Amino acid sequence: MAAAPPLRRTDSALGEFSPLKHFVVAKKNISDLFDQLLTYVKETSAFVEETCGNKALENIASQHQKLEIQSYANKLAVIKEVVARRHMKVAFFGRTSNGKSTVINAMLRDRVLPSGIGHTTNCFLSVEGTDDDKAYLKTEGSDDEKSIKTVNQLAHALHMDESLDAGCLVRVFWPKTKCALLRDDLVLVDSPGTDVTTQLDSWIDKFCLDADVFVLVANSESTLMNTEKHFFHKVNERLSKPNIFILNNRWDASANEPEYMDDVRKQHTDRCVNFLVEELKVVDREEAPNHIFFISAKEVLSSRMQRAQGMPETGGALAEGFQERLKEFQSFERRFEECISQSAVKTKFEQHTLRAKQITEKVKNIMDDINIKAAEKRVAALEDREYQIDRLEFVKNQLNLLIDDIKTKIKAISEDVESKVSSAMGEEICRLHVIVDEFRADFHPSPQVLKIYKSELLAHVEEGMGKNLAFRCSDAINASVQSSQGFMIESMLPLLPSSAQNQIHMLVPSRKFDLSYDLNCAKLCSDFQENIEFQFSMGWTALVHRFLGSANAQRALRLMDQNFQVSQPALPPAHTPSSGPNSIASQPNSIASQPNHETALMTQDDLMVAMATNVASLSSRTSMSVIIVGGVVWRTIGWRLIALSASLYGLLYLYERITWTTKAKERTLKRQFVDYATKKLQLIISFTSSNCSHQVQQEMATTFARLCQQVDETQKELEAEIRQLTINIDQLETVQSRSKSLRHKATELEKQLDAFTKQYLQPEQ
Ligand code: GTP
Ligand code: MG
Repeated sequence: MAAAPPLRRTDSALGEFSPLKHFVVAKKNISDLFDQLLTYVKETSAFVEETCGNKALENIASQHQKLEIQSYANKLAVIKEVVARRHMKVAFFGRTSNGKSTVINAMLRDRVLPSGIGHTTNCFLSVEGTDDDKAYLKTEGSDDEKSIKTVNQLAHALHMDESLDAGCLVRVFWPKTKCALLRDDLVLVDSPGTDVTTQLDSWIDKFCLDADVFVLVANSESTLMNTEKHFFHKVNERLSKPNIFILNNRWDASANEPEYMDDVRKQHTDRCVNFLVEELKVVDREEAPNHIFFISAKEVLSSRMQRAQGMPETGGALAEGFQERLKEFQSFERRFEECISQSAVKTKFEQHTLRAKQITEKVKNIMDDINIKAAEKRVAALEDREYQIDRLEFVKNQLNLLIDDIKTKIKAISEDVESKVSSAMGEEICRLHVIVDEFRADFHPSPQVLKIYKSELLAHVEEGMGKNLAFRCSDAINASVQSSQGFMIESMLPLLPSSAQNQIHMLVPSRKFDLSYDLNCAKLCSDFQENIEFQFSMGWTALVHRFLGSANAQRALRLMDQNFQVSQPALPPAHTPSSGPNSIASQPNSIASQPNHETALMTQDDLMVAMATNVASLSSRTSMSVIIVGGVVWRTIGWRLIALSASLYGLLYLYERITWTTKAKERTLKRQFVDYATKKLQLIISFTSSNCSHQVQQEMATTFARLCQQVDETQKELEAEIRQLTINIDQLETVQSRSKSLRHKATELEKQLDAFTKQYLQPEQ
């Protein structure tokens, strides 16, 4: 038994500090601790549940941890209830009439339980405190509170209740205001005599397993009986080292034989020490005497009751040596209180404290686990965010660089296409006659056939030119466009979202870029008007053409037309063909269709100068010499020559007339068309080439815009990801700090539990 703390209750001061308070205070402490623990574990449970339920905080707290903490909360709630109901329990055993009930009454300082000669107590009676003013009892199996006013009423009630047998328990509730012991959570259990029952085992099961102290009330007038010993042997078998006190009651009887008192006392003491030390082995030999007392319960009870009524405590007929016996009783009470409170604190709270520590430790570990996981995840999220921010920055900068780069590239390729198409077109125009010559179709000078012929010719030229241009340029341009697109994709690929990277072909279709040249010959040459009327090469118009050049000839012929119109009578009729609708002057080509006022400005002097120039040039040529020779010959030969010339002229005319076939007409038309189309096509070279260049630019710009759109997507994705990561980091920070503070709380509670253990549960040194 541990050394008793310096706590004592004096007989006179009823409400003074009692060793029992040790238990009461410990119970309050541990109850408070369990309150705090329960609140803490509930808080932790809510935190874990919240963490578990948050998708962003996946894998931080497990479902298992959540259930584990919930089960701890449930366990703690149960333990808290159990602790609140805990009390100290002392059970009194002994033979009938040894004075068990009287001892309890003496301790309670009132006649609470019935006592008397013979077999009085016929069932187990527990006395516990109630906050009510009035005493009542409860029988087993019933919640009815039967009011009792006097001990006689109780005795009567117990005797009248035939259902009660020795194994039953009747709970007596006694007002705490009347008794300090009961205020201090002590429950006293009275029993029927151990000699009147055969149900010792069931008694032990029912009443002894949770008893903190056993008091054997023996009769000092006789000796310790085997029936009493037998019972305690059985108790000792079931409980490890029960706390047992032996009260040798009725010691007042020794006053009758003072000369034997010491011997008897020694004899009883020896037997009792032997019983406790040798037989039961519950205490050692030095400690054993502290568990054996010689008392007179009857005397103590009556003196205390006298005193309570304000009468002198020795008012009754008290035998010699009462004061010593009273002191010994008080000494028993003190030792008993110290023993029971120490023992009860241990037996009632030790296991719970240990359990509380285990739970706290486990919860602390879970908090640690969550803290570590949250920290790891937060670091990862921070790194991730850092990476994403860098990437966003990179994408933005890279895009800016690429925009300039790609714009330059697009410009260069467009210019290249323009020059390629322009030179190819120039070359093709030069080779236009080849395309036209290749054209085969039914030709006939009739207007209907001619119309169809011309439109087919235009289609042929359109197709041929298109084909040739495509042959010359398309492959190179396509390759260049594709390589530029490839360059764009390659340089922008790292900036695209990973989803788009795998489906790049979907974004930029690898279809062949088809350049459309769109010459639109039909429209361009819609004004083409052929001249396939027969014209004698030595005719007036042809000669004018030959001598004046085609431009001047037209002017001259037009001027002459006007002169004829002004001075009609002076017009030589032989010249009428020149004013016909098919005259060269009326051809609607670009030069012929120039406004008339230009022609008007052309004076006769100009014409003369032109004619003189042509004649001069003629004189420098052989034709001049032919004329001179002709003049000389004419002089010598005369009319014969004229006739010969005229017939030759006629033959030539005839020959030309005969050879002026459909074929010749077609050839002429083709030649005229080539001349015409060449001029027209040359006019649209720059338009067509810039159109092609525009197409290429458009194609490249579309690809680039698509890629830019994807880069935009990347940026948006990155920004969203960064935002989400920031939210996650904040949440993880909260989880970290909460788990940390909850861990600190656990440590705080552990400290308190340790302090409790140290103060109440560890044996004092
Ligand atoms: P059961 O309930 O029958 O088992 O008996 P018990 O052990 O409860 O004994 P109880 O307290 O009823 O006392 C029996 C008788 O012994 C009563 O008449 C008491 O007055 C008397 N008695 C009890 N203690 C003492 C004592 O210390 N001295 C003397 N002289 N008589 C006592
Ligand atoms: Mg009794």
